Amino acid sequence: MAEEEVKQGSENSYGAEEELKPYLVTDPKEMSARIDALRAQGKRIGLVPTMGALHLGHLSLAIASKNECDVTVVSDFVNPTQFAPNEDYDKYPRTLDADLTLLTHIKADYVFAPSPADMYPSGFEANVHVGGVSKVLEGAFRPTHFDGVCTVVLKLFNLVRADVAYFGQKDYQQVCVVRKMVRDLNVPVEIAMKPIIRDRDGVALSSRNQYLSDDERRQARVLNKSLEKAKELIQGGERDSEVVYDAMRQIIETAPSAKIDYLHIGDPESLREMERIAGNVVVLEAVRVGATRLIDNCLIER
Ligand code: PAF
Repeated sequence: MAEEEVKQGSENSYGAEEELKPYLVTDPKEMSARIDALRAQGKRIGLVPTMGALHLGHLSLAIASKNECDVTVVSDFVNPTQFAPNEDYDKYPRTLDADLTLLTHIKADYVFAPSPADMYPSGFEANVHVGGVSKVLEGAFRPTHFDGVCTVVLKLFNLVRADVAYFGQKDYQQVCVVRKMVRDLNVPVEIAMKPIIRDRDGVALSSRNQYLSDDERRQARVLNKSLEKAKELIQGGERDSEVVYDAMRQIIETAPSAKIDYLHIGDPESLREMERIAGNVVVLEAVRVGATRLIDNCLIER
């Protein structure tokens, strides 16, 4: 693996910076071999696990990795095992070319985009199940989801052997579950959680926002508005979670297509629900707007 392959931004004949695409790897064995070579050179490696359809939220993770690591690997893989049969695996957007262009601009080094058959060859039977924090909230609504997430994330950790893996706070429970897996199974990787990136109207960026009609997109603002209200109440001294849930519900119910799956005020690490609010808390919500299920959250540190 020549080091030149990961060098970025050589000058063209006009003296302007030419942007080099990240190096695309599709074969897991090749990814692993390239990582061996990079680790032998003492490189600090950052991994940004994604399912592609990249937006500024993902790019903020890749930029954090660029700032903190020598080599940034972005995985781009729509993982079939984390979707239930009735979910959106088939229609999930697959935009590898556009993703590569975006990652060129921020000078990511490698994109790892394996096929489902390479990640799950015939005869694959392993399953990583993290109990506790994976069973509530998203885990209650999507019972096999976190097994699929943990299985693929552990495979990515084993293939890329990153020093740091970057996840977005938008999927807050996912970060808690991955941290628990890493602790319980002694996986030698640091998990970094980076802030939610929101659009100007407050809607959290998500690859699934593109399923929303214009009208639903406007209605989706109630998620962040209800979190803002929760924050205002809790920071103003409200201690009764039911009062906060009522205020959130009132805001969400102004959107005619919105249906609440859950509102939850919990401990930021265990996610254990709090009836009386004490110390730092995370407020989590899942709301269906039309046929699209959206999740959002805010951390309130006091
Ligand atoms: O957050 C996601 O996009 C996915 O759950 C992840 C972590 C890439 C695993 O497929």
